[in-house]
Amino acid sequence: MAKTKTAFFCQNCGAQYAKWIGQCTSCKQWNTIAEEVLEKPGKKDWNKDKSLERSSKPRKVTDIQAGTEMRIHTGDAELDRVLGGGLVPGSLTLVGGEPGIGKSTLMLQTALKLGTKVLYVSGEESQRQIAMRAERIGVLTDNCFILTETNTSKIFREIDALDPELVIVDSIQTLHSDYLEAGAGSISQIRECTAELIAFAKETHIPVILIGHITKDGNIAGPKILEHMVDTVLQFEGDRNYLFRIVRALKNRFGSTSELGIYEMKGNGLHGVANPSEILISNQDEALSGTAVATTVEGMRPLLIEIQALVSSAVYGTPQRSATGFPAKRLNMLLAVLEKRAGFKLAAKDVFLNVTGGIQVDDPAIDLAVMAAILSSNADIPLERGVCFAAEVGLAGEIRPVPRIDQRIGEAAKLGFQSIYISSKASVSAKTPGIQVHKVRSVEALVRSLFG
Ligand code: TYD
Ligand code: MG
Repeated sequence: MAKTKTAFFCQNCGAQYAKWIGQCTSCKQWNTIAEEVLEKPGKKDWNKDKSLERSSKPRKVTDIQAGTEMRIHTGDAELDRVLGGGLVPGSLTLVGGEPGIGKSTLMLQTALKLGTKVLYVSGEESQRQIAMRAERIGVLTDNCFILTETNTSKIFREIDALDPELVIVDSIQTLHSDYLEAGAGSISQIRECTAELIAFAKETHIPVILIGHITKDGNIAGPKILEHMVDTVLQFEGDRNYLFRIVRALKNRFGSTSELGIYEMKGNGLHGVANPSEILISNQDEALSGTAVATTVEGMRPLLIEIQALVSSAVYGTPQRSATGFPAKRLNMLLAVLEKRAGFKLAAKDVFLNVTGGIQVDDPAIDLAVMAAILSSNADIPLERGVCFAAEVGLAGEIRPVPRIDQRIGEAAKLGFQSIYISSKASVSAKTPGIQVHKVRSVEALVRSLFG
């Protein structure tokens, strides 16, 4: 058999080397050299290659029917939405997330519920372990096949024999290709195996879902380097200590990246949450100081979330600032604005901020709620019940309008909120019955309006 030709490349600058070295002599980065396949045995003859017969010929753009892409519905409303309507045939989807977050659970339940033939390839767990998990999820079907294998050539052989509608690989870090000597999980193997899977998916039109692990710091030789190779990257987030899990599209060649799927982890698998706002807001009987409700929009869906702040006297010289689910830099900026524009002496206070439910939010529209929660905790006066907020705060202390305000007001009204604070510059197109809209111009005006 002809030998496979490989070479070593710097993953940072692309310099090529004949053998592995620790530091790239061209860009001086350490540990960036990885082996890659240059040429496989049995070089392709482009005139004879069968796979090319099916490939497309150049066509005028006006001759091509854009129409709607065919989609394979996964039977899971949340997942379908994040994917942009379902799986696209021949696409490669990467599902990334920290270990233990629920990637295998979500993929196995997708495999069980799809209804057509699915091959679930696992290099992580035994067939028995997976069968036990399937039992726990409680959906039994004859269409789901489990293969425990890590060698890509053997996997392709099994796929050919089975001819499934969907292939799920758990996980990319366990795969290895015969063409490379590097161990499973190394950058070279991950890239090569992914490249083989992409070629396979494009040729057979079978969609492939790849599971990939990332660690807390996210710098493991893992899915990060694959993000530009695959069609769709879904990120599974959430705190393991909370029940909520969020699936977000970081990249999607076939849909929007702003959609969000929300799940709850139960004893029998992950269940989609249809009305997340209702769960994310604690319906406490007594009003507590330091909590405020923000209206955010994630994808097409408005979402109400609760912000909790705790302001207390600093014990040490340097006050502590810590935020969960909210960018720390933004918190510092809001505190500086409060200090300068509303005369609060927050420099001598510790400030802790928490977005409930373990959700990461980067919608600037929650600024006003963050500020209200801080003000409320600082004064130790609870906010009135049934009040929520939707506006961004600028450096000059001005309250700025946010997009899709009507939708936010609508969602707040639907959940029984009686009033909402928005920017005086926001243009509300129609009056929503049952909710009073307060327009505020500046941070000073907000303080006056909330605490008299
Ligand atoms: P898992 O899906 O294996 O996570 P990953 O593949 O991302 O590493 O497991 C997620 C956790 O969920 C695990 O600790 C067990 C728990 N779990 C449930 O709470 N309910 C269930 O029905 C299942 C299958 C798992
Ligand atoms: Mg797993």
